[in-house]
Amino acid sequence: MIEDFSPIPKSYSEIQKATVESGFTMASDLAIGSLLRTLAVSKPGGRFLELGTGTGLSTSWILEGMDHNSRLTTIDNDVACLSIAQKYLGNDPRLNLQCIDGEDWINANLAKRFDLIFADTWHGKYLMLDHILEMLKPSGFYIVDDMNPQPNWPEGHAEKAEKFIEKLDSSRFLTLTKMNWSTGIIVATRKY
Ligand SMILES: C[S@@+](CC[C@H](N)C(=O)[O-])C[C@H]1O[C@@H](n2cnc3c(N)ncnc32)[C@H](O)[C@@H]1O
Repeated sequence: MIEDFSPIPKSYSEIQKATVESGFTMASDLAIGSLLRTLAVSKPGGRFLELGTGTGLSTSWILEGMDHNSRLTTIDNDVACLSIAQKYLGNDPRLNLQCIDGEDWINANLAKRFDLIFADTWHGKYLMLDHILEMLKPSGFYIVDDMNPQPNWPEGHAEKAEKFIEKLDSSRFLTLTKMNWSTGIIVATRKY
């Protein structure tokens, strides 16, 4: 079995250390990071969106794949998490890090369009999915992880996940690949 995600972004290792020290328990794994970096490379000059920055782990991978002209907006409502992302990634001029509630951000940015969206919080995944899919450009990637049952899922979450997948499946304009890999990943591409 191949499982080698090197080279790991330098900032990732620093953020990972700070993340463990902070006690943050919702951190993404290396596999999704590696996939995000690979997909990011395919969108030169791209506009990227991450919903759910956490401490900036997945952010560091997306930034690694982006070229000089690309831009990444990432949002989270947790100041403590964001302070870690800010410390290690805040100097990158391509990054727009915002502390804001997901619903407020989406409502204020409905006209924006993105080449890649990593939906890693409630909004854009279990909430306001239609709004976020409207913000995906044709040929753009929409990515989610944590789709396989996780030990920390609260009661009722499995049903929510099932409905979410059904909704993605029923979209006329998405092509989906569901991967039983990492925490369970779905990559969707917008056809038109
Ligand atoms: C799965 S974690 C993100 C993990 C991160 N992408 C990583 O690479 O480790 C989900 C994040 O969503 C954030 N969150 C929860 N509710 C939110 C809301 N209403 N608006 C914005 N962010 C929210 C949490 O603070 C948490 O950092």
